[in-house]
Formats: sequence, C-alpha cells, structure tokens
Amino acid sequence: MIRSFAVLTAFLGGVGPTTMAQLATTPPMGWNSWNHFGGQVSDADIRATADALVATGMRDSGYVYVNIDDGWQGKRTASGELTGNERFPDMRALANYIHARGLKLGIYSSPGALTCAGNEGSMGHEEEDARTFAKWGVDYLKYDICSYRKILEQDAHGDPKLAKQMMFAVFQRMHSALRATGRPIVYSLSQHGLSRGWAWASQTGANLWRTGDDVHDDYLSITGIGFAQAGLSKFSGPGHWNDPDMLEIGNGGLTPDEARTQMSLWSLLAAPLLAGNDLSKMDSDSLNILNNREVLSIDQDPAGHQGDRVWCEGPLEIWTRALVNGSVAVGLFNGNQGPVEIPLDLKLLGFKHAVKVRDVWQHSDLASIDGPRVFRVAPHGVILLVVHQ
Ligand code: GLA
Repeated sequence: MIRSFAVLTAFLGGVGPTTMAQLATTPPMGWNSWNHFGGQVSDADIRATADALVATGMRDSGYVYVNIDDGWQGKRTASGELTGNERFPDMRALANYIHARGLKLGIYSSPGALTCAGNEGSMGHEEEDARTFAKWGVDYLKYDICSYRKILEQDAHGDPKLAKQMMFAVFQRMHSALRATGRPIVYSLSQHGLSRGWAWASQTGANLWRTGDDVHDDYLSITGIGFAQAGLSKFSGPGHWNDPDMLEIGNGGLTPDEARTQMSLWSLLAAPLLAGNDLSKMDSDSLNILNNREVLSIDQDPAGHQGDRVWCEGPLEIWTRALVNGSVAVGLFNGNQGPVEIPLDLKLLGFKHAVKVRDVWQHSDLASIDGPRVFRVAPHGVILLVVHQ
C-alpha cells in the first residue's frame, strides 16, 4: 500500500493527489505588487490593497491572492532565517491582516542566491525558507529564476537539455520543501518559458509557470505576449496553468479598448488574473474592466480548457475557448489603428446550426446567427462573445 502510494506520487511528479486536487483548480486570481509598486513596495501598500480588494468587491469576484513581489526581503539572521526588510517589519502580522479579510498572502523568492532586484534569494536555504513562509501563513509562492540564470549559462554551456534538467531540479526542490511544510501553498514559477518550460513545469509540482518575458504597460507588449500563446493550450488545465504574466489594466498605459483586449485575451487563455495596478486609486473604467463577472466566468470556467487561435489575418485574430456546458467563448481582436469589420463563420466554432450570442462586455444578447456574420471592432479593441446552441 505504502509502495503503491509512493509510485503514484512519483508518477504525479512528486505532487500528492490531495494537493493536486485542492490547489488552483481554476487559474489563480488576485493582485501582485510588481507592476505598480516595483521594488519599493511596503507593508502599508499591501494592507491598502487588501482593503481595496474588499471595498471594490473584487475579492467577492474571486481576486483573493495578495502577492508581494520582489522587494520585501531583509537579511538573514545569524541562524539563517530570512526576515522582512524595514518596510516589512512583521510578516506574521501582515499575514493575519490579509487572512482576517478573507484573502490569501503570496510571497516571492528565487532559486538563485539573489532575486532579480538583487535581494536575498533562497539558494541553499530552500527548506528553511519554505518553513519560514509556512510559519508566516503564506499561501502562494512566486519563484523567479533571476540570478540562477547565470549559473545555467556557466554550467549548462548552451545545452538546452542540461539547462532544462538543472531548472527542473531547483524548481522541484522548492516544491518538495513547500510540501514538507504541510501547508497548501500555490507554487508559481517565473522562468520566462526557457527550455519550453510549459512542457515540463507541471512535473516539478508547479501550479503555474510563466511562458514568456515580462509584460509592460502598453498595447504592443500585451498583444506581443498574449498572441504568442498560440499552441500552448494543450499544456494547461486544472491545477496547472500557463502564465502569460500579470495584468496592466489601470496603470495608465492602456486605453479602455486596449484594457478590454488584455482582459479578454487573458480570460480566453485561462490565464491567472493578477491585477497589477494601485487598487486604492483606481478609476471606475479600470474597476469595471477588471471586475466584469461575465468575463471572469470565462477565465474561471471549471472545465479549465485553455483557448487558442482559430483564425488570423495579419493584425486581426480570432481566439476561441470551449466552456463547460458546450458554450464557446469567442474573441475577435483588432490590432489595427482604425475600426474594422471582422468576419466570423460559425464553422470556425464547430457549430452547424443557429447559435445564440451574448456580448459579454455589453452585457447584451445579440440576434442569433446561423451563418457568416461580420462584427465591427474598434481600433486595438475586441468583441468578446459567448456562443451557445
Ligand atoms: C522578474 C519577473 C517579474 C518581477 C521581477 C522582480 O523580472 O519576471 O515579474 O517579479 O523579476 O524583480
């Protein structure tokens, strides 16, 4: 009996079936400090964010993870224990504050000696740091490759197979350390898709993994990353998700049409939805875009099928995602700077008979369609539909 459990656990890549079943059954939703606060984030920023998640109703829509990115770390104590810096004097108290509001706390580290912003990483301290995080009450770890990349360059000598083996080992090591704490902690890798990370990251125990480089607050960045996710849908599903990086909505660089483009594309991609703006100073457009429940229910669809591109004509794209009840979510994207009419053929969606169509940004039912139809799409904009028989 013990032996067969061990075999099953090995088969699942070291992840016990209970943990697999419980963590990240839909893509994680919440907020991350990096895109707005960068390396200067503080305890006060995190508390204000937690309060805003509650006050705006975002928590009740599913945005529950409050993730501190790089910039919280202080020095290690003489016995090796990692501590917060002067802006994070009491991590346990901060975790209590977050938990008391029905939210969960995320934190950030690296398999390298240093994080990307030059702070203390977990190299050689993996088990100790996992225990520290669990003791504080951490619920989510983003583990970012950062300075470990230099070690890869030195030791893998440009050999992608060796690089993959090395990354696999360090990511799996932290996963084992997290598991050994007994606390359920969502495990998020940030290794930028190196060595086709999407094809093996789930076997390290990761619940999500970055598929590319850092997102920036402009349309070219969000569409450059988002549209480059084509072909990755087969690697994700409940408990293990592709991560095209965080949201930039509300940070000032996207028009409302462009913001709806990121939100629509990320939802079709079954992507983690981590807002990256200052939630305590958000305008109503940004809140309405982040908090559109019809769009969120596409992202959080329980079947967990990631969508993919089904049609492309230069800067015009159509992506679809199969939903749990036989419905199909459809996004028509216009990468041009002028309005355009995009043709949609029912056959692209796998339907042969007339379908009912709902426009989820407009919250309105459209006339049913039974053949080819064109949709007018704004510059850098999107039409997001849910179609069903
Ligand atoms: C890397 C990651 C970012 C962020 C920064 C922090 O660039 O990809 O998401 O975590 O490090 O230094």
